[in-house]
Amino acid sequence: MSTPPSPTVAPASGRLGVLTVGLGAVASTLIAGVELTKRGLGKPIGSLTQMGTIRLGKRTEDRSPLISEFVPLAALSDIVWGAWDVYPDDAYVAASRAGVLESGKHIEAISDALREVRPMQAAFERKYARNLDGEHVKPISSKRGMLNAIREDINKFREDNKCERLVMIWCASTEIFIEPGRAHVDLEAFEKAIDADDETVSPCQLYAYAALLEGVPFNNGAPNLAVDAPALRMFATEKNIPISGKDFKTGQTLMKTVLAPMLKARMLGLSGWYSTNILGNRDGEVLDAPENFKTKEESKLGVLEDILQPAKYPDLYGDVFHKVQINYYPPRGDNKEGWDNIDITGWLGYPMQIKVNFLCRDSILAAPLALDLVLFSDLAQRAGMGGIQEWLSFYYKSPQVAPGLYPEHDLFIQLTKLKNTLRWMMGEDQITHLGREYYEDL
Ligand SMILES: NC(=O)c1ccc[n+]([C@@H]2O[C@H](COP(=O)([O-])OP(=O)(O)OC[C@H]3O[C@@H](n4cnc5c(N)ncnc54)[C@H](O)[C@@H]3O)[C@@H](O)[C@H]2O)c1
Repeated sequence: MSTPPSPTVAPASGRLGVLTVGLGAVASTLIAGVELTKRGLGKPIGSLTQMGTIRLGKRTEDRSPLISEFVPLAALSDIVWGAWDVYPDDAYVAASRAGVLESGKHIEAISDALREVRPMQAAFERKYARNLDGEHVKPISSKRGMLNAIREDINKFREDNKCERLVMIWCASTEIFIEPGRAHVDLEAFEKAIDADDETVSPCQLYAYAALLEGVPFNNGAPNLAVDAPALRMFATEKNIPISGKDFKTGQTLMKTVLAPMLKARMLGLSGWYSTNILGNRDGEVLDAPENFKTKEESKLGVLEDILQPAKYPDLYGDVFHKVQINYYPPRGDNKEGWDNIDITGWLGYPMQIKVNFLCRDSILAAPLALDLVLFSDLAQRAGMGGIQEWLSFYYKSPQVAPGLYPEHDLFIQLTKLKNTLRWMMGEDQITHLGREYYEDL
């Protein structure tokens, strides 16, 4: 198959409005981090768009520009922030409350910029996240009314802030588990379901639909259903608007998608993988409700099976016991601690163990992913690349892929795919790692 022609990428001129649904730990850490970086008061560590380079051509050519110099990304100074939340706290209060950043060093220094980000009222229904009790919600009960109100918010924000382009990212709480059903088969059914106030149409789906109706790329940082059902997926493809999801790949799953491919690469067996962690932020509190945890569990459990392909390797992975637990433990706040016990087998079936103890910071890991996603989905929009952005799988626990395809979870295959997509966008050669040419004249 020949490579399709590279697209023409429109320049990133004018202001980019970034709309975060949810102004909690992740969103406030994202905003603060970008504002600190803009002022030279912090470094955007963890962000590929800000720190990463990309090799072009042969290894002998010595061409490895910064990604930000290679592709025309929006400048951080052109970003304008908008948000919705169930609580009225501005980004200053939200960041202080989240307890992720040091107040003196990383909040007070940019307090003016943070105070300016005041959330719009949320489209919210308690049944989708019952551990939340905020009252900064739209006084509308019908789904149609909520959808229209979100669309109005988007357009008002665009006008008030003179934005050239917008992107939306779901950084709100994980909603209860909903399987794609009758309401999601096509747009007609989805429209009817909205009018019927169908329970399987959650607020997140309304934000996503509103974004697509207004021509705004949508990214889903949480594991709940959004654009990963036929109706909205097909609509995004038809309107040529980028969509991506779902569930930021940060702590334990990030480790899993590095370690499991290593086991498989070496043909080492696996008999069990027990993952547990403690987390004390608001996210942990929402996930303490079983219906919300189920959404997260589904997202976390699928990874091993997709990577290890037990049907192809029954002797190695045919009988794996996989367990994932999240325990709400307030004293730790955002500083999650994860433990993994991995029982593996080697030559002749001899057992071995790997233990991983990751003392991470949830939002410190998630914020750079959110930044990259908004910048890359804006880039995709300007390159005319609508629909599912599989090249952004790198950022997600449950990457959205074309129907019938299995997702690629291996972090380094995902990175290769992302960088090859950037090379293709800019008309550079793909890097295949074949490298025969280095040995031709030896
Ligand atoms: N931090 C990580 O490492 C990580 C990794 C993967 C996924 N996530 C997901 O990212 C999301 C955000 O995480 P967080 O730590 O910032 O959580 P958080 O609880 O601090 O913030 C979420 C915010 O969303 C708001 N919210 C809930 N429903 C809303 C609605 N319908 N409209 C507008 N606002 C709404 C809540 O009031 C809250 O302030 C969660 O779903 C979490 O599961 C986080």
